[in-house]
Amino acid sequence: MASEAWQKIDEVLKELELATCDNKDSLEQFRIRYLGSKNIIKPLFGEIRNVENEKKKEFGQKLNELKQKAEEKFAQFQSEVKSKERSDAQQSLDMTLPSEPYNQGSRHPISIVMNRIISIFEKIGYVVAEEREIEDDWHNFTAMNTPEDHPARDMQDTFYLKDSTQYLLRTHTSSVQSRVMTTQEPPIRIIAPGRVYRNETISARSHCQFHQVEGLYIDKDVSFADMKQTLLYFAREMYGPDTKIRLRPSYFPFTEPSAEMDVYWGLKDETDYRITKGTGWLEILGCGMVDPNVLENCKIDPDVYSGFAFGMGIERQAMLKYKISDIRLLFENDVRFLRQFSSVI
Ligand code: PHE
Repeated sequence: MASEAWQKIDEVLKELELATCDNKDSLEQFRIRYLGSKNIIKPLFGEIRNVENEKKKEFGQKLNELKQKAEEKFAQFQSEVKSKERSDAQQSLDMTLPSEPYNQGSRHPISIVMNRIISIFEKIGYVVAEEREIEDDWHNFTAMNTPEDHPARDMQDTFYLKDSTQYLLRTHTSSVQSRVMTTQEPPIRIIAPGRVYRNETISARSHCQFHQVEGLYIDKDVSFADMKQTLLYFAREMYGPDTKIRLRPSYFPFTEPSAEMDVYWGLKDETDYRITKGTGWLEILGCGMVDPNVLENCKIDPDVYSGFAFGMGIERQAMLKYKISDIRLLFENDVRFLRQFSSVI
């Protein structure tokens, strides 16, 4: 009967007006009753055919309004339930509970020492230069004044790329010197940290890969005294304000004159005797005035410019600082070892 259908619409409308929802369950009940696939509004659409022709339009409109009303109510309840859930969650948050422990990462000791060295030189105007680890023969050796028959060029000491006599894993960060000198105009003041490779047997004291930091300063009138002063500044920043240094004559193909720098470590205990071979002095780096041949190779006029360079290993300094007795620990990435540095920045 059509009149019953009219009545039913009014009933559902009233029901909708009175409906309330305050949780997920009642929201779902509401959805099923008014919007689900077997909702109570749907069958009323079937009643249209029983309505007199002139009232069909009105009946249809009323039904559509009813359906719309149900949808509006649902949207309203849905957002109310959501915001209630949110505020409940906030209230149940106990701010006095201890926080969940979380694992903090740690810096690798090599990075710690390397960053320290970089920041010491950055303070006096050096900028970081980074270059490739796969290098060509020219930048690693030839430009650096290293003669053809130098033992470092030997397969025994250098990793060449497969079937190549041209490409190799750089044996020192001095290759960055030639890279920078051929691409930048003086004045040049760079610090170049990075990984280097040598074909050495792995033991507690040496590894086939390690890290160096290279320094290069090229300008007009740069003297050996400038170098000594710069390295003294570095040693005191790194090892304490009273640190003593000494420069011993040495030889590198790319510097002339060349030297090795020692810092006075002291002879307080047996380990000091062992690591300094009883002298109290510890070798830290190699250095020297850039050989004019190197400047010429890199198209810098040695009559106008001069400069100094130095290179130091990182592993040994890290091992001394943290009393690490085996270099291999630095490359194994055992978390039990690495975690010990989590408090160091
Ligand atoms: N490249 C040298 C080495 O690996 C160190 C060095 C760098 C010496 C710069 C002098 C100048 O031992």
